[in-house]
Amino acid sequence: MSLRDIEDRADCERLVRAFYGRALVDPLIGWIFVDVAKLDLEAHVPRIASFWETVLLGARTYGGGAFRPHAAIHMRAGLRAAHFERWLILWHATVDELFAGERAELAKAHADRVARAFHSRIQALPSPHDPVPETRGLSITLHDPGA
Ligand code: HEM
Ligand code: HEM
Repeated sequence: MSLRDIEDRADCERLVRAFYGRALVDPLIGWIFVDVAKLDLEAHVPRIASFWETVLLGARTYGGGAFRPHAAIHMRAGLRAAHFERWLILWHATVDELFAGERAELAKAHADRVARAFHSRIQALPSPHDPVPETRGLSITLHDPGA
């Protein structure tokens, strides 16, 4: 069976749902969606579908501000390069399983760019994996037993 390209919003939704079917049960990143973000899929899928409809089909249904929720998750969970790499592996596999064509290629290429940009932007933010800062100027008071 030969695959067709991503043509409309329904295709974007199908892609996004299939992706979350993998991501939510993934041993490396599933917990971030389930336990940290406590993702409400029915609320989330339309937003992400709008994002992809905007990127791939020229719609203007996504309002922007995609980085902010990732910054918040990073500060709670600590997003690492390995998490982004896994996200991208699952995304590429899902796209390739369902679609083929120019837009399918763009869906993979744009995800790569956004992942790189997000990963580099979160480097500047604190995360729970940061080492505990060295305590400086700790003072020890010796009480003189004779006093
Ligand atoms: C039809 C063309 C394109 C559309 C409609 C599009 C759309 C978008 C949208 C909606 C976002 C999310 C922005 C936000 O939420 O603030 C985004 C992010 C991004 N796009 Fe594109 N894009 C396009 C082409 C490109 C190209 C050609 C590149 C690079 C060569 C690129 C690189 C990026 C990067 C790096 C980000 C993440 C920026 C960040 O750090 O927040 N995009 N794009
Ligand atoms: C380590 C990798 C990633 C993780 C764990 C992750 C996780 C999440 C989570 C949990 C949310 C929901 C946040 C909330 O509403 O509370 C979210 C939103 C979103 N993610 Fe990601 N994400 C990752 C990478 C990416 C990449 C590479 C892209 C772009 C292709 C992307 C695009 C989006 C968009 C567009 C939203 C919706 C933001 C909005 O509500 O407007 N994510 N992500």
